Amino acid sequence: MPERFLGLDNQIDVTGKNFELIPFGGGRRICLGLPLTIRMLYLMLGSLINSFDWELEDGVVPETMNMEDKFGLTLQMAQPLRAVPKKL
Ligand code: HEM
Repeated sequence: MPERFLGLDNQIDVTGKNFELIPFGGGRRICLGLPLTIRMLYLMLGSLINSFDWELEDGVVPETMNMEDKFGLTLQMAQPLRAVPKKL
């Protein structure tokens, strides 16, 4: 539920200070690639979204997508998401 962080821009960030959101870990062993990733992620994601039309596999639509999670050290989707790029 990533939307749970909407509107909290100034209170929660990914730099390891807020334990609700630590995609890069925290403390002394925090991800060394964080500054690079913050710069590159939006560029890469934006390029992929702009360059292709995306579809879900087997006629699945967002409304019927299986959002169940699988318990583990990190939270994973029970049924992995497969997004298929189509030529524009
Ligand atoms: C979305 C992209 C990335 C995510 C989500 C991510 C996440 C993480 C996480 C969770 C850790 C473990 C931190 C901890 O133990 O507290 C880590 C460690 C590390 N990451 Fe990343 N990372 C990303 C990209 C990168 C990139 C682009 C680089 C290098 C260019 C990088 C280099 C490293 C290194 C060297 C460590 C080990 C740091 C240490 O143990 O001292 N990461 N990363």
